[in-house]
Amino acid sequence: MDVRDRVAVVTGGASGIGRSLGLALAARGAAAVVVADTDAVGAQAVAREITLGGGTALAVPCDVSREADVQTLIARAEEAFTRIDVFCSNAGIIVAGGVEVPDPAWSRIWAVNVQSHVYVARAVLPGMLARGEGYLVITASAAGLLTQLGSAPYAVTKHAAVALAEWLAITHGDQGIGVSCLCPQAVTTNLGATSLREVGGLPPPAARDGAVPSQDAGSVSRQAAVDGVLTPDQVAASVIEGLADERFLILPHPEVATYERRRATDRDRWLGGMRRLQAHLAGKG
Ligand SMILES: NC(=O)c1ccc[n+]([C@@H]2O[C@H](COP(=O)([O-])OP(=O)(O)OC[C@H]3O[C@@H](n4cnc5c(N)ncnc54)[C@H](O)[C@@H]3O)[C@@H](O)[C@H]2O)c1
Repeated sequence: MDVRDRVAVVTGGASGIGRSLGLALAARGAAAVVVADTDAVGAQAVAREITLGGGTALAVPCDVSREADVQTLIARAEEAFTRIDVFCSNAGIIVAGGVEVPDPAWSRIWAVNVQSHVYVARAVLPGMLARGEGYLVITASAAGLLTQLGSAPYAVTKHAAVALAEWLAITHGDQGIGVSCLCPQAVTTNLGATSLREVGGLPPPAARDGAVPSQDAGSVSRQAAVDGVLTPDQVAASVIEGLADERFLILPHPEVATYERRRATDRDRWLGGMRRLQAHLAGKG
C-alpha cells in the first residue's frame, strides 16, 4: 500500500518506533496520522511535530489493553478523518524473568502485547471489510519468531502476536485486507523505562536474577550487540518499504530470516545454539 493520502493510526506513537512511524507516514504524504498512547503529553508532542512539518495529526490518549479505549480511538479517528486505511498496532512492553514473574505482570503484558491487537482487529476490520480495503501492521519482535533470552513473558506474547497476525492475513487476505508483522531485533528506544512505568514495581530487566539483559529493552546490551542496534527511524523506513511491497514479514534486521530458517530446520540444534549464546552472554561460555 502506498501511504500517500491514507489515514493512519499508530499506537504507542509517543515514543520510539511508534513516534518514528508516525513521522515517516506523515513525511510520505499520509492524509492524517492519529497518534495514540497512554502518554497523552508525548502523543500530543508527536502530533505537534507532524503538524509543524506540514502534516495533519490528531493525538488521542489510549490504553490499548482496554477495549473501550481502542473503540474510542477508532471512533475519534473515523469522526475526524472519515476512515482508517492503515492501523499500526505497535504499543508493547517487556517484563524480564521466567515463570516466577507474578501473575499480574503476566496478565498486563498479555493484555498489552496480544489482546490489544485483538481489540484493534475487532474494531477496525468491519469498516475496512465494508470498504474492501485496509492495512494492519502488527509490531511483534524477532522474539516472536525466535525467542527472548531472559524474558519468558516477552517471548510468549510476541509469538502470540505473530500467530494472530498470520491468522488475520490468512483469513482476510482475500478480502482486501493487507497485514504486515514487524519483527525487529534491538532498537534504541525507551522500551525498558516505558515498561517499568506501565507494569509498575518490577526491577529493571538487567537487575533481575542475573537474567540476560533484554535486546528489546533498548539498552545496548551484549545480546543486542550481536546483530547491531537500529534506530527507530531505520525501523520506520523498513515499515514504509514493507507496506509498499505488501510484505507480511518486515525484518529490519535481515539475519532474522536465516535464524528462523535454522530454527525450523533443526529445532534441537537451534535450542542448543541458543543455550550456548545465553551462557556466553552471561559470561559462562
Ligand atoms: N526496542 C526494541 O528493541 C524492540 C525490538 C522489537 C520489537 N519492539 C516492539 O516495538 C514496539 C514499540 O516499542 P519501542 O521499542 O518503540 O518502545 P518505547 O517505549 O519507546 O515506545 C512504546 C510506546 O508505547 C506506549 N505504550 C505502552 N503501553 C501502552 C498501552 N497499554 N497503551 C498505549 N500505549 C502504550 C508507551 O507509552 C510508549 O510511548 C513494542 O511493541 C515493542 O515490543 C521493540
